Amino acid sequence: MNALSGPLHGLANQEVIRWIQKMVDTLGTTKPSREQIAEYVKSTLASGRVIPGYGHAVLRKPDPRFMAQRQFCEDNVQDSDLVKIVWKIFDVVPPILSSLGKVKNPWPNVDAHSGAVLIHYGLKEYNYYTVLFGVSRALGVLAAQCWARALALPLERPKSVTTEWVKEYLTKEYNVVVSN
Ligand SMILES: CC(C)(COP(=O)(O)OP(=O)(O)OC[C@H]1O[C@@H](n2cnc3c(N)ncnc32)[C@H](O)[C@@H]1OP(=O)(O)O)[C@@H](O)C(=O)NCCC(=O)NCCS
Repeated sequence: MNALSGPLHGLANQEVIRWIQKMVDTLGTTKPSREQIAEYVKSTLASGRVIPGYGHAVLRKPDPRFMAQRQFCEDNVQDSDLVKIVWKIFDVVPPILSSLGKVKNPWPNVDAHSGAVLIHYGLKEYNYYTVLFGVSRALGVLAAQCWARALALPLERPKSVTTEWVKEYLTKEYNVVVSN
């Protein structure tokens, strides 16, 4: 959780909301144009800061989790100025970051969108966002730990398998039949 809490990592979804809020306050509108957003992005870069929610150490395309949240909002969230700003930022930022010539991935990551969705559904206490992110990750790790204990596995890297795979494995390796 501590590793996730840094401003360039999981804390970025809080940073995104703070940054957008400051933009809205500075520009004096909750419906900024793409041109206004572009100016704001350039002023952030000129002051030596990164654009929160953009870039990734490994990914080299828009984060599928960003795209999934965007699709979810297109289907379910029509009335959020904040979500609309997030989408406009998606139009504006990648070409600007690309033009710097040094950013390996100019595309949004998961943190560019998640805060706006949480706010829409009433979770406005954004100091808790990183914790939420960590808790959701913990579920996967705990499930893997349960299987590791059950199967007496040695130290392993987390791997995702389906329930069907586990059932087949148990039957094949241990002659155990698991019912539903
Ligand atoms: C995620 C991040 C830390 C990855 O860093 P990285 O692996 O070093 O990324 P790159 O190799 O593309 O960095 C090359 C340069 O581009 C810059 N860069 C990368 N992303 C940038 C961004 N969003 N805005 C401005 N500059 C950025 C880096 O600061 C670096 O500049 P430098 O050489 O002057 O130090 C970085 O993209 C970032 O700071 N993003 C914003 C914070 C964020 O959204 N974090 C959540 C990640 S899931």
